Formats: sequence, structure tokens, C-alpha cells
Amino acid sequence: MRKVLLSVTAAMLLALPGAADAVRGQDFEQAPINYAKRTPNNAASRLFADLEAGRKTLKFDEEFGYLPALLDALRVPRSSQTLVFSKTSLQRSRIAPETPRALYFNDDVYIGYCQQGEVVEISATDDELGTVFYTLDQRETHVPLWTRQTDNCLTCHASSSTNNVPGHLIRSVYSDVQGFPILSASSYRTDQTSPLEHRWGGWYVSGTHGAQKHLGNLVIRTHDEPEAVDNSAGQNVLDLSKLVDTERYLTPHSDLVALMVLEHQAPAHNRITHANFATRQALHYEAELNRELGEPAGKRWESTTSRIKSACEPLVEYLLFCDETPLTERIAGSSRFAEEFAAPGPRDKRGRSLRELDLTKRMFRYPCSYLIYSSSFAALPKEAKSYVYRRLHEILDGGDESPKFRHLTPGDRRAVREILRDTLPDFS
Ligand code: HEC
Repeated sequence: MRKVLLSVTAAMLLALPGAADAVRGQDFEQAPINYAKRTPNNAASRLFADLEAGRKTLKFDEEFGYLPALLDALRVPRSSQTLVFSKTSLQRSRIAPETPRALYFNDDVYIGYCQQGEVVEISATDDELGTVFYTLDQRETHVPLWTRQTDNCLTCHASSSTNNVPGHLIRSVYSDVQGFPILSASSYRTDQTSPLEHRWGGWYVSGTHGAQKHLGNLVIRTHDEPEAVDNSAGQNVLDLSKLVDTERYLTPHSDLVALMVLEHQAPAHNRITHANFATRQALHYEAELNRELGEPAGKRWESTTSRIKSACEPLVEYLLFCDETPLTERIAGSSRFAEEFAAPGPRDKRGRSLRELDLTKRMFRYPCSYLIYSSSFAALPKEAKSYVYRRLHEILDGGDESPKFRHLTPGDRRAVREILRDTLPDFS
């Protein structure tokens, strides 16, 4: 049966240049990804293995359950805390403007916590599987009970909003007093290109941003025209304790800079996963095609090259902050997030780091994402990584002057090139 199907596919590929796309689909449950079947390898799965083997334990806290110990074990800083009060996610009955959900993240894992929640939610970037989802029971047991989730979470976490791969979501909605998103009003998917005025609907936001407006800290009390409601009270708020009982959280912040870094990072991870999956799928498909047609194993098809390009070019553009929303005034958070985030480096010979924040005209001082050092970037198949590196060289050496990259000044290009040369061993 498989053979017959393949022959049809092969015939279509040869006959109709566009047909292959429709046939291939995005199916990460099939080979070569085998999302649900394959054993994960990520920061959370390694921690769970240590817990089961008794090499590590997690302390259970009376109020927060396993949350504080989990953050420590996974080295997720508390300063990354953000608070979202719209009922847009899993434990919606627990989430409301009085009881927001808290999110925490580092470069590799994301954690979701609800007051009185039955579980802590975890999403972890995985070398082979993109993003893997877990729940950890908020019940004290000898060994904490964790579950890998292969269906429940994907109903929301694998869709066109996540580049059709298991990935991360960040949304902005108009929320009513109970936390329900107002369906008749606008809603936005957020990333680094979203205008600030569309961001943070349904989130608390602590920090200052001058006259730049946003939708954070806003609860809609009537259902008429949410877009017309005045949100001046929600701007430049440093102290959230007037809006919500912050004592019930690990920190009193929903830091503005943490939110912006999250909104850069989560969509970047989705693009890395998409580049990873699409490249492996293209190579897998090509290998089957070669076998089927009796061609030599390594024969490279034009269609493979173009699939790799179309999966990786959007990643290159995102890593280089194409179309990033410009800032018009200084942004500052309310917690130590910005300092803690920037501290680890790595730094080049002149002490420069891609984690240095700018926050006056744009997010980062040097416009190339620090996720280039992440384990998920490192795990890209070599064909994808060499595409990204080749494009970075072309763009940073000044050879590519297309309008997409016009935001990169000659100084930016030189600085990023020099930083990468010193800090990313396989770049040169
Ligand atoms: C009903 C849709 C929905 C389901 C089901 C869902 N999530 Fe989410 N999740 C969201 C949305 C939307 C966000 C963005 C923040 C928000 O609005 O709360 C999110 C954010 C998250 C985040 C923060 C960063 C990220 O990855 O986007 C984690 C962690 C997370 N979810 C874990 C889980 C886990 C684990 C499951 C399954 C046990 C799950 N979610 C099921 C909608 C969902």
C-alpha cells in the first residue's frame, strides 16, 4: 500500500511542480518526525528522569506546590514572570482578572502556573521534536507525577498560529470582567513585529513606556465597542498591587521587558521548529523518491532545495529582526528581569553580547537573536543550519542589500558579524 501511494506521489511530483505541496501536508505525526511516538530529549525530560532515578527531588510548597522548586531545577528566573488574565488557555476556570495565570521562561523552557491549579504546565524545546508539552501534578507525592501530553495541548499549540508545528502561542485580546475574550472585538497574535498598541490585551503589564500606548491592564466592563474604551489608566503602571493581589504570586511583577523578550522568543522557537521539521521532511521525502525512482541516494532535487529555502528564509529574517516594531521612547520593566536576562552573554573579544538590550529604538542593541546559541538552533539539521549561516554571511557582509534588511546599518552588520565570529564556533 505504501509503495503504491509513493508511486502516485512521485508521479505527481514529476508531473506537476505545485502538486507536491498539497500532498505533503505538515504531518509531524508521520516519519521522519513521529512526534507522539518518539522519546523526547529536553531540559524537562532530563529533570523527570533524574526525579525518577532519585538523583533529584522537588520540594513541595504549601502555597505554590511544585512551582518554586521546578523553576529552580530548570533554572528559570522568577524575574521572567508575566501575568495573563484572559481565559485563553488550558485551565480557564482558574483564570480571571483577580487570579491571572503566571508564565515563566528561560531560553529553553516555558512554565504556566494557576492559583489552585491541578497541574503546572510546561513546554520545553526539544532537539528532535520542536516543542514538547508536559503537566506536573500539583499534589505532593514521593516522586512528582508528570505526564507528557501529546494531544490535549496540541489542539491549541499546533495550528497556523504556531507555524503548523507544536509550538508556542502569545495572544492579545480584549477581555471582559471574568476574563473571557470578547469575540466581537479584535484579537491579535503577538510577535516582535506587532505594534505596541495591539499588544498585551488580557495581560497585566508593569513598566514604563512613555507615550507609546498598549492594551495591557485593561478589563472591559461593557460590551460596546471595546476598541473605543480609554485605557490611559493602564499605561505606565509600575505597581500592579492596585489591580490584583500580587501576594499570591512569586513576584509582584508582570515585567514589560520580560513580555517583550517572550514575544520575540516564543515565535522564534516556532520558526526554528518549522525550519527543523520542514527540512527533515523534505530530505526524507527526497530519499524515498530517490529510492522509488532508482536514483542515487544522495541525488539532490531542486524541489528539496526550494523547500529548505522557504522554511529557513523566514527564520533568517526573524533572527535579524526584519520588520521589528520600532520604539519611539524608552521602555523599562519593573523588575530585575532586564539585568538578569542580559548577564549571561556570551561576549565577544570587545565585551559585546547579543543579549544586550537597547529598549530605546528597538529591543536589542545588536539585531541578531541570542537564540542562535540555543540548543534548538544547534539541533537544526545541517542543511538548514548551513542555509541560515550562508544567508547570514551574505547579509552581514553587505552583499545582500534587499529592502528586507535595510534596517541593518553597516555598523550593525559589522558588529553582529564580529560577535558571531567570536562567540559561535561553527559560524566561520
Ligand atoms: C485552549 C487552548 C490551549 C490549550 C488546550 C493549551 N494551551 Fe497553553 N497556551 C494557550 C495560549 C492562548 C497561550 C498564550 C498565553 C495565554 O493566553 O494564556 C498559552 C501559553 C502556554 C505556555 C506559555 C508559553 C507557550 O508555550 O506559549 C505554556 C507553557 C503552555 N501554554 C502550556 C500548555 C500545556 C502543557 C498544555 C496542555 C496540557 C496547554 N498549554 C494547553 C492556549 C492553550
